[in-house]
Amino acid sequence: MASTFDVVFRGGTVVNQDGTAGRDIGVIGGRIAEIGEIDPARAGEIVDCRGLHVLPGVIDSQVHFREPGAEHKEDLETGSLGAVMGGVTTVFEMPNTTPLTVTRETLEDKIRRARHRMHCDFAFWVGGTHGNAEEVQELERLPGAAGIKIFMGASTGDLLVPDDEGVEAILSHTSRRVAVHSEDEYRLIERKGLRVEGDPSSHPVWRDEVAALRCTERLVRIARKTGARIHLLHVSTAEEMDYIRAHKEYASVEVTPQHLTFTADDYATLGTRLQMNPPIRAPHHRDGIWQGLWQGVADVLGSDHAPHTLEEKAKPYPASPSGMTGVQTLVPIMLDHVNAGRLSLERFVDLTSAGPLRLFGIAGKGRIAVGYDADLTIVDLKRRETIRDNWIASRSAWTPYDGKTVTGWPVGTVIRGRRVMWEGELTTPSGGEPLRFLEALPKSV
Ligand code: DOR
Repeated sequence: MASTFDVVFRGGTVVNQDGTAGRDIGVIGGRIAEIGEIDPARAGEIVDCRGLHVLPGVIDSQVHFREPGAEHKEDLETGSLGAVMGGVTTVFEMPNTTPLTVTRETLEDKIRRARHRMHCDFAFWVGGTHGNAEEVQELERLPGAAGIKIFMGASTGDLLVPDDEGVEAILSHTSRRVAVHSEDEYRLIERKGLRVEGDPSSHPVWRDEVAALRCTERLVRIARKTGARIHLLHVSTAEEMDYIRAHKEYASVEVTPQHLTFTADDYATLGTRLQMNPPIRAPHHRDGIWQGLWQGVADVLGSDHAPHTLEEKAKPYPASPSGMTGVQTLVPIMLDHVNAGRLSLERFVDLTSAGPLRLFGIAGKGRIAVGYDADLTIVDLKRRETIRDNWIASRSAWTPYDGKTVTGWPVGTVIRGRRVMWEGELTTPSGGEPLRFLEALPKSV
């Protein structure tokens, strides 16, 4: 009998919109064609998933892969290798490269570089600036664009729109959700003197919670005025969580594994490895972010994978750059939180696939459902592993979690039906493709 399915993922515990249960997944032409009990005789290939959980492919909607311009830290190939090694099937990459991704040409250049060189599927955020505010509506709809990203506080690179007028000009020209790095640049400038040479624990003193909250309040005001939808990246304070819960119709929320895991106490051991923007803060902020997650205020998890070399990180604070790797550790760190009882596996799935699908309107991804791309993150919830710098595929080759033992591990990354990573091995040549979005689907005749 001719086989019906190219491949069947068999015997795993599938977690999707129907709950958590043992089901087989049959794939034809890269898409999910059947879910249920499938006769193995109908399978061209069988992937044995017994003892494993099969999750919708994890979407990381905030990574910095540094290409073009800073390939000594990372490039699209190495960054995406880290993604698939860590169970991530799709990334949205950030525009603070050199040149900045702020025009049609720079976006098309990234897509050209990425197609079939990246290991996972991808979209690129386009930077909103004073110079391109009139064009953002066109830019946000280009093929492969995730939407517009604004930096209101300066971080790595030259993207910056600190003023209400500039932000309003952009928001009034967009119709897709706009991602924002929300720290009040004016307050950051005022407080620069509070940085203590050689002491990264002064980072959250300089870039304090007021800078984050004040900016988020300004932004929500502008969103209400313009009717725009905003996406607050890496929310880092308890106060913002409290504020946003009253303004959810305008603002969606990203939280990061690092803000849920570390506190300012960890600067003592991790030093500049822990330095990022917005900063890792006092324990009550971590608790407030968990509260926001438990209460449903948080919509997605993003890693803010922002690699810098260890040599750069070894410069004395504040000459050390802000950012840490994270795309490869997002799944194991969060599964460890699942095993510790801090969130359910269903909530993890909500944050890493259903959430991005809901916010960004991704076409054909984000669900284990018939007709969707067969993107799967296959995990062993019981497996204990110790995360080490030498496991990290990033060109920067380090992680703030070096030496941390976790329970729960990604054992398979499946993208459009192809096993890309299995048991820690890269099993398929790179075949990354740009995403399509519902709000920008090309019209066909
Ligand atoms: O710490 C950070 N590093 N925060 C950002 O917003 C940018 C990022 C980077 O690109 O290095």
